[in-house]
Amino acid sequence: MIVAPGPASVSLGYRVARELGVEVVRVKFKTFPDGESYIRFLDPVEGEDVAIIQSTHPPQDTNLLRLLLMSKTAKRLGARSVVAVVPYLAYARQDKEFLEGEAVSVDVVIGLIEASGVDEFLTFDIHSMDILERFSIPAKSLSAIPALAEHVRTMGLSGALSVAPDEGAIGLAKAAAEVLGGGWSWMRKERDRVTGEIRMWLEEVEASGRDVAIFDDIVSTGGTMARAVSLLKSAGAKRVVCACTHPLLVGDALSRILGAGCDTVIGTDCVPSPISVVSVSGLIAEELRRMV
Ligand code: R5P
Repeated sequence: MIVAPGPASVSLGYRVARELGVEVVRVKFKTFPDGESYIRFLDPVEGEDVAIIQSTHPPQDTNLLRLLLMSKTAKRLGARSVVAVVPYLAYARQDKEFLEGEAVSVDVVIGLIEASGVDEFLTFDIHSMDILERFSIPAKSLSAIPALAEHVRTMGLSGALSVAPDEGAIGLAKAAAEVLGGGWSWMRKERDRVTGEIRMWLEEVEASGRDVAIFDDIVSTGGTMARAVSLLKSAGAKRVVCACTHPLLVGDALSRILGAGCDTVIGTDCVPSPISVVSVSGLIAEELRRMV
């Protein structure tokens, strides 16, 4: 196997190759003055199993297209197989028609990935596990939550309460609690599908006097985490840390969360960011080793 780091995940790609002890395929990329993307493989891939590492965080459409250009080209150049490692899968939150007439965007994205010749797909903490069943190629979602929880533990928060900021994150809080050992709880969240506004409240969370770690798949605008932090602080929580797999951190997300009383926000390099302190490279390498 050889690794082709895409423009969105260069450091992560090199790290994975180092952990696997395999060659890196150098990929030249640039953006034309009109915004179009250019991709060129500088090393041969003929007869190789190629692992393309390319996340699809903002600019999502550009990063997605670059993934498609890479996989299609690797196949045209004679790659034996292509594994697409897409640590953050864009559009996964639009996985159904919430309002009549909406695009089910993730289905379109899956169709494009498959049409580009990808043989196997790997991602992290996908927004909803049922999305994996919509692929007709083998597709898997690994979890970075145990590694994030381990990092939280080393910050002196062993025994902290693990909290899910909404129902969809309950599985994440449970997985984190296995590491932190302080039990888990969750909050209710409702989103107005038209305005996008959220309403949140505590659901059986006994936070008084406790250290708390909140776990979510994505931090985008920071609205969910900021609201969760202030509710927990009002309920008497001591230290509150926030952890997510995909730190998209749109606009002032980080200062919103810290301003709400959070002590630290951490994330992974599924999305490169100033708070990506946990690397998923080891987990990717382990999985790729199993594949070949
Ligand atoms: C939604 O259900 C996700 O799990 C996240 O909670 C959400 O995407 C976070 O978005 P934001 O940071 O904009 O509140």
